[in-house]
Amino acid sequence: MADDLNDVTDESSESSEALIAVHWRDEGYYPPPAKFVAQANASDPAIREQYTEDKYPDCFTAYADLLTWYKKWDTVLDTSNAPFWKWWVGGELNASYNCVDRHLETHPNKAALIWVPEPESEVHQAITYRELYVRVNEFAAVLKDLGLKAGDRITFHMPMVPELPVAMLAAARLGVVHSQVFAGFSGAAAGHRIADSGSTVLVTIDGYYRSGDLLDHKVKADEAVETAAKEGQQVDKVLVFRRYPGQYSAKTPMVEGRDVFVDDLLAAHRGEIVEPARLQATDPLFLMYTSGTTGRPKGCQHSIGGYLSYVAGTSKYYQDIHPDDTYWCLADIGWITGHSYIVYGPLALGTTSVIYEGTPNYPDAARPWRIAHQLGVNIFHTSPTTIRMLRKVSPDGPKGFDIHFKHMTTVGEPIEPEVWRWYFEKVGKEEAVIVDTWWQTETGGFLGSTLPGIDPMKPGSCGPGALGVYPAILDEDGNDVPAGSGKAGNIVIRNPWPGVFQTIYGQPERFVSTYYAKYNKDPESKDWRDWPYFAGDGATQAADGYFRILGRVDDVINVAGHRLGTKELESVALTVNEVAEAAAVPVIDDIRGRVVEMYVSLKPGYEAGPEIEAKVRDAIVTDIGKIARPKNIWIVPDMPKTRSGKIMRRVIAATSNFTDTGDITTLANPEIVEKIRHQVQSAKLARGEVPRELSETELNEIKSFGSE
Ligand code: WTA
Repeated sequence: MADDLNDVTDESSESSEALIAVHWRDEGYYPPPAKFVAQANASDPAIREQYTEDKYPDCFTAYADLLTWYKKWDTVLDTSNAPFWKWWVGGELNASYNCVDRHLETHPNKAALIWVPEPESEVHQAITYRELYVRVNEFAAVLKDLGLKAGDRITFHMPMVPELPVAMLAAARLGVVHSQVFAGFSGAAAGHRIADSGSTVLVTIDGYYRSGDLLDHKVKADEAVETAAKEGQQVDKVLVFRRYPGQYSAKTPMVEGRDVFVDDLLAAHRGEIVEPARLQATDPLFLMYTSGTTGRPKGCQHSIGGYLSYVAGTSKYYQDIHPDDTYWCLADIGWITGHSYIVYGPLALGTTSVIYEGTPNYPDAARPWRIAHQLGVNIFHTSPTTIRMLRKVSPDGPKGFDIHFKHMTTVGEPIEPEVWRWYFEKVGKEEAVIVDTWWQTETGGFLGSTLPGIDPMKPGSCGPGALGVYPAILDEDGNDVPAGSGKAGNIVIRNPWPGVFQTIYGQPERFVSTYYAKYNKDPESKDWRDWPYFAGDGATQAADGYFRILGRVDDVINVAGHRLGTKELESVALTVNEVAEAAAVPVIDDIRGRVVEMYVSLKPGYEAGPEIEAKVRDAIVTDIGKIARPKNIWIVPDMPKTRSGKIMRRVIAATSNFTDTGDITTLANPEIVEKIRHQVQSAKLARGEVPRELSETELNEIKSFGSE
């Protein structure tokens, strides 16, 4: 616990030098296309009046009313155990029922999911609501048979196959709390999360396609179980789906007594129906792990009623989902975007959600357009990283394809205005509205976005707070940074909203100290007004009320829209025997937004060389996954440090990005800066890693990176 407390104090005090003036050109407005407005779920500006502060929190009953309840709630928002907010207290419902069963009355034969396998030689799989119902029930029967019951945790390490949403909805049916780990994460990463959540069952698959290769995924299950065991958590059963039922595609042997093929188990439960459990709205639905500033990932716990109502409401008003839409979100279900806006939101509204197994540019850059064309996709949802990649390799966008998106989303990272304009002009053909949705794993759903049928768009800005969400920008002392001041600060949400996570699983102190302690006015207070939610992002607010998100103010690096904690990366590097010190920094990247570079210094007696670099790289890939693989590993003679011995990450970040290292007079070893600069920059230039000129926001991010 003492360790934990140290961690958390670190985390909450590290918020930054975000208070820097920012001067960018204010971008022009784009009105939403008239055709879109004519059909939008929200097109009357009066809707905002229903979500003003005087109507809060009751305004959110409109979201809860989108769901079917066994029993209505007694209390909308209970703040008695602040800041552990409780929504819809006394209400009873089931998420699986809401996403599946209730649609059988109105449209049993409509596709709930359309799965697109990566190989183009394989046919698409359309799963109707009726079939989804059958599959969810059968898998729920399997889980029940294993003795799993409401409140137990289960870990999934699954790729983008329909078995993943089936498994999620089956767990939700029983009230079993699912924790899905992104398939691209390593077995060890899955193991840490299994241990943290106390799961006894792991659900995986033998293999899946990525960029043309059928990957052996089962091998990661063995590593996961081993890692979990080292951390004291025993996994009793590993349920292995088969990419091709009846045929095993992995090389790794099945472990007798522990590993079971799901298709075999299902055969014993054909046609079984498992009644959905009547659960409390405040019961947990799932955990989603995310990185923070400490090595230990945070299991963000989301509730059934609050979360589901929030993703349903925001899917309706912000994704503008109508029952007859074909909606395609390219995110991975292993991240919060996929949970909220591939599975729970769209299915709660009874629409058709497309799931694609592979990489967007396989076998070529026109693949997304072929999929959208074949399926008649009219809502398209992706990240700036994918948009940048498509812009580079497919500059004309879906030209020549009969594609007419009505609505497009960008999420996960700030989008550059030029990239935004390309998305609007080429992909949307100026017919589609764009929402730039700012939110987080912790927040369950959108926090900042334009209302697509009402608000003009402004490239680079997410827009105002979402309905019923009241953001503000505060300085380090908690004073308001006024809209239009041109100053940046920390963005906070002044009020709870139904989608907010309930706690960090097993770490309630860290929950309070990371997200609420910073601006809390009175720890005893039960008034939500005293507990602004600290998002950990720097932002500014223009005079029109629109927010522009500048990026993280903590030690988190956002790689292609995925959060990686520097401490997490560094602690893995330190497991390499030769390594004495390690520091991870972000490097600006034209496609992925940011990539990681790692600096290490060695223990006495060891020589720098490619073997040690390879060891560090392998350790990171093994413990976290390929997504975290550093672009470069620099073995340096020493790290720039303060007199108290803290590594000054901003100095090495500046070195990696070819920017000014700023004031180094407070360093204990200022002479090292020039040495490292020479070493790193000449090597980079030799590799052709020529820097481009950075924007002011990018410069500010580098200049203030890392706590000191
Ligand atoms: C960043 C993803 C700018 C931000 C849903 C946030 C964004 C972190 C945007 C959360 C956006 C997300 N514009 N930055 N539209 N959306 N971010 O938890 O720094 O994977 O704190 O959730 O991504 O990442 P997470």
